[in-house]
Amino acid sequence: MNNHDGFLCLFGATGDLAGNKILPALLQWREAGMPLKRIWCLGRRPLDTAGYLAFIEDKGSIRLDPWLRERIEYHRLEFNEGEGYRALARRIHERGFSRDTQRLFFLAVKPEAFVSIAHQLHAAELVIPGHPSHRLMLEKPFGDSLKSADAIQQQLMHLLTEEQLFRIDHYLGKEMIRNILTIRFANRLFSESWHGGAIDRVEVTSIETAGVEERLEYYDQAGAINDMVQSHLLQMVALVAMAAPENFDPDSIRTAKIDTLNHLRIDPQDRQVVGQYAGYREQRPESTTETAVEAVLRVDTPQWAGTRFILRTGKKLVEKRTEIRLYYRPTQLCVSCAETVQAQANQLVIEVFPSEGVQLQFNSKTPGYEYDTEQVVAEYCHSCRMIGNKPEAYVKLLKDAWEGDKTLFAGFAELQAQWRIADAIRAACRKGGLVIYPPGAPTVLQANSQHEPPTMPVA
Ligand SMILES: NC(=O)c1ccc[n+]([C@@H]2O[C@H](COP(=O)([O-])OP(=O)(O)OC[C@H]3O[C@@H](n4cnc5c(N)ncnc54)[C@H](OP(=O)(O)O)[C@@H]3O)[C@@H](O)[C@H]2O)c1
Repeated sequence: MNNHDGFLCLFGATGDLAGNKILPALLQWREAGMPLKRIWCLGRRPLDTAGYLAFIEDKGSIRLDPWLRERIEYHRLEFNEGEGYRALARRIHERGFSRDTQRLFFLAVKPEAFVSIAHQLHAAELVIPGHPSHRLMLEKPFGDSLKSADAIQQQLMHLLTEEQLFRIDHYLGKEMIRNILTIRFANRLFSESWHGGAIDRVEVTSIETAGVEERLEYYDQAGAINDMVQSHLLQMVALVAMAAPENFDPDSIRTAKIDTLNHLRIDPQDRQVVGQYAGYREQRPESTTETAVEAVLRVDTPQWAGTRFILRTGKKLVEKRTEIRLYYRPTQLCVSCAETVQAQANQLVIEVFPSEGVQLQFNSKTPGYEYDTEQVVAEYCHSCRMIGNKPEAYVKLLKDAWEGDKTLFAGFAELQAQWRIADAIRAACRKGGLVIYPPGAPTVLQANSQHEPPTMPVA
């Protein structure tokens, strides 16, 4: 069989991620020539395929087309029980798939289940260790600390090989995140001023107006540091701060990123803040889970001497926005040399959401007879140039995993470096207590200084 005859097994198929992201991505992938012959949607609910399709469509986030409906089969399975896996193996066999058929197992489940699922897949011979066409995609987070990530990895390595693992950080599949290296390295304008001498600070922001809502169970255990900082925000920092890779192949890029992540540190003079939106405890009394973070990091390399990297994320904040904003150091403008004018600092903004594009703020002469200076904005809209459906991050990731391309997946050494810094941020934040911020606050830090809400120790 060639790789146009394979199948996908989706664990956690009744969950939020499957309904909101993965099935819509499969629909889009199908429009872009998806090669899968069958998709097994796996869940523990007592449903048949028709019942599952109705369940998914009743949730309202997706309408499946006949082509996809025909390929989906629901299979009931409890993570820890071998019989469900053996029954799945029988069904796969009955459908004419062989031991060598290409297959992808997408684990849209909590990390505590990774090992038992891998163990059962191995026992049912659904995944053969080292088989190049048997692959697992693992949703983030991979663990909840460096220690637990190490433990998961160690156990997985008894069951399969690193080459078979595709650890997802779906931000890496986003157009503008994939554009960072091009913007940086394909433009002398930027590459030559990409250092601490020119850049005062880099703000990496991913904030939203929504609260935790139906993700409370998961979120209350994870918190904003594990949910956002450890993965998405640190990956963005790595892409912005990494030195030029030797080549633009996956290994060289990963090596450059790991090196940068290993040079991230917390400076004691910088304030690290965690907060929780007012009202959170109506859902989860006594909880000290952080719903927002503002962390300041330094990259301990000569290139980034003097630059602060500010990571900001949170729920129930003023707007939904994801961006990377570089604040250049201001420059002096000598007009008549008797008078020195400080021009406003340049800003370069890589916009990820709601718009996708680049903004460059620079100084220009105000039109007219005088030599006045004003800041103007040059804007590039990346998403405006896409015709038809904008490629969703999960489509790119599914396609790449299917094709065995690991460029956009986190290697284990990278992940270890991310956990090391996330653990350090958590420890530093604990010292400051938890700020209770009002929903709609601009940032957790500003909420603190403007409203002086009560703080409390973090558990
Ligand atoms: N939601 C997102 O947007 C998002 C984004 C990025 C990463 N993630 C990560 O993806 C993972 C899943 O997230 P989610 O939001 O989809 O969680 P979820 O809504 O709680 O879904 C979990 C899924 O796992 C199933 N499940 C749980 N225990 C099981 C068991 N013992 N046997 C069989 N099935 C079981 C659930 O079945 P039931 O329906 O029967 O409970 C459900 O299908 C989490 O680790 C999360 O961090 C989620």
